[in-house]
Amino acid sequence: MHKSKITGLGFEVPENVVKNADLEEIMETSDEWIQTRSGIKERRWATEDLATSDLAISASKKAMEMAGVSSEDIDLVIVGTLSSDYFFPGVSAQLQDKLNLRNIAAFDIKAACSAFVYCLSVGDQFIRSGMAKTALIVGAETQTKLIDKTTRGRDIAVLFGDGAGAAIIQTSDDDSGILSTHLHCQGKDMKNLWMEGPGSAPGVWIHNKQAIAHGRLSPKMNGREVFRNAVKRFPEVIQEAMDENGLTMEDIKLIIPHQANNRISQAVAKRMGIGMDRLYSNIHKYGNTTAASIPIALTEAHQEGKIQKGDHIILAAFGAGYTWASAAIRW
Ligand code: COA
Repeated sequence: MHKSKITGLGFEVPENVVKNADLEEIMETSDEWIQTRSGIKERRWATEDLATSDLAISASKKAMEMAGVSSEDIDLVIVGTLSSDYFFPGVSAQLQDKLNLRNIAAFDIKAACSAFVYCLSVGDQFIRSGMAKTALIVGAETQTKLIDKTTRGRDIAVLFGDGAGAAIIQTSDDDSGILSTHLHCQGKDMKNLWMEGPGSAPGVWIHNKQAIAHGRLSPKMNGREVFRNAVKRFPEVIQEAMDENGLTMEDIKLIIPHQANNRISQAVAKRMGIGMDRLYSNIHKYGNTTAASIPIALTEAHQEGKIQKGDHIILAAFGAGYTWASAAIRW
């Protein structure tokens, strides 16, 4: 079995920059509250005319260019998103069409902030089994269209942003590549970070005015519980990735965590006895972009020269579900 390796990366964010001061204009919040609790200074919010697929297409083209692959080469598309353009089908179908791909397998995975690592894991299994040779793996969101941008929704509104990141993975012909992936879920806590509608559960009314009035069509979060679980699961799943491959923290050049919140990363670094320089961070610029955050961070870290051939890196995610996941990679 040949493992897969990342050969191309790319990302895209909306042009519309929303600074903390802009949020002070539309809800009761402050730059100081946001920065001390999250490290976020600004984020990108998609304007009405921009959809998740637009960002995904642009990020995908950049990743394809870096990998030097054509539309003909791609034989699998997997997209992680909770803010697809339409309720169905998924963004993957739009990518198949807009990128002029063959009639290959294309599907979406809804695993919130862990979705990119979930998608990467599934793509890696396809390549290891010989089912695919060149896969396009994307995390993309314009989730801020869904959030309540009033004081009522401020605990969520100030943290999230939009964007897309993409990776091309291909059959590895050397010892570099995705060494292992680790995926988890604990559904009993799902209501600590969720969006109720539109959905099929009894009492959940689709496009119902009453539901909108009660905020049931916007995400809801129990911030403290999410925080408590995140700081437990991130170290666990990072350790799992190291143990599986006989690696110690000394062997790890960089951890690319889901950009949930700088305070979470600080707590993770403390628990793992490492400095913050070992955990990549760009949250100050983009906020929490859910499924897009890891591929955006990975692309930027690579562009900044922080990942070199032979380096071991770990991608680590935690999010709604709860889901959490990691991937150990030798670059
Ligand atoms: N601006 C100002 N005040 C806000 C606010 C905002 N954007 N959002 C909430 N508040 C208020 C609350 O209403 C509450 O007020 P009260 O005490 O009068 O009831 C108060 O701030 C809560 O403050 P604090 O107790 O300091 O909040 P916190 O330390 O629990 O921080 C979070 C809140 C959301 C930042 C924190 O819980 C967190 O980071 N959770 C994890 C969130 C996350 O990363 N989610 C995504 C995971 S993928």
